[in-house]
Amino acid sequence: MGSKFVSHVSWVCPWLVRTGRTLATYSVLGLFIAGYSDSIIEVHLVCKSQRDRVDSHRRPDARPADPGGGEAPGRPAGVVAPPRNADFPWDEFDTTAYLRHNYQTLRSDDQQILELVRDFFADSLPVGGAKGLDLGSGPNLYPALAMLPLCDEITLFELSNSNVAWLEGEVPNYRHTWDPFWQLLCERPRYRAVGNPRQELARRASVESGSVFELPEDRWDVGTMFFVAESISECPDEFDEALRRFVGALRAGSPFAAAFMENSAGYDVGRRRFPAVAVTEDIVRSILEATASDLRLERIGIEGDALRDGYTGMIVACGHAGIA
Ligand SMILES: C[S@@+](CC[C@H](N)C(=O)[O-])C[C@H]1O[C@@H](n2cnc3c(N)ncnc32)[C@H](O)[C@@H]1O
Repeated sequence: MGSKFVSHVSWVCPWLVRTGRTLATYSVLGLFIAGYSDSIIEVHLVCKSQRDRVDSHRRPDARPADPGGGEAPGRPAGVVAPPRNADFPWDEFDTTAYLRHNYQTLRSDDQQILELVRDFFADSLPVGGAKGLDLGSGPNLYPALAMLPLCDEITLFELSNSNVAWLEGEVPNYRHTWDPFWQLLCERPRYRAVGNPRQELARRASVESGSVFELPEDRWDVGTMFFVAESISECPDEFDEALRRFVGALRAGSPFAAAFMENSAGYDVGRRRFPAVAVTEDIVRSILEATASDLRLERIGIEGDALRDGYTGMIVACGHAGIA
């Protein structure tokens, strides 16, 4: 009996020690996981939201996009900054797809914009020998055509190499799809006086490659910027800066017209996704009021034929650079 007890104790004790050690290990591990689970979940969520952002820049069958956004320096860890202008592949902007989708025919929203801008420029004082700026022209010639009677020179200022190449090929002899746009402008005599717009655009317009964020100040006398400031970044501060730089590039008193997509969620061009800042009339007005005068803003709603999903209308702003 005595020796049996001793043999039981000698077997049970090491078992207790082993089990105790295992239990202790699991308890410590449990406490560790409980203590850090919030951080682990947080890290996972940040990584996922970062991945989702990057994925949203490309269509499923497109080449991997450059990473957009990220943790901004100086921000608390885990706060993801919206992607900036430089995060997008502007040289891969599919000029042909954009042109076909937007300007193959004269849409009713573009017609309303062009009428507003035409009447504003037609009533502007003649500016002798004026230099015009169309900022972020892309594959759109109608802002430059709208400035034609006022300008001896027009700069088509553009960042994307694909759009620069298209503009250089188009300006010397623009295609006939722009004729309905010119006919609409010719309802005002100032435009009819131009004579041959195809020849005059070829003679007066030139293409300049560059970024709005490096635009020189006080260089031009008339300006247009259509669907650019809000459609080149997801950062509201870059929208603000682009709009201010556009107005700042014009000499005081210069007439300008700018158009914006309202509440845009971004847009596809061919197989690429490009960004937007969701702006409203109030936001546009609040920035322009600090830099321009004689402001007139108009909102153009969507009437049946939306251009695409993910916007609520268009905004047109006309005014004069500088505070009166
Ligand atoms: C939505 S498109 C608008 C094109 C054209 N103005 C229109 O009315 O359809 C935006 C344009 O801004 C250009 N862009 C993007 N980043 C720019 C930058 N930093 N400086 C100047 N242009 C830029 C793009 O290449 C593109 O042509």
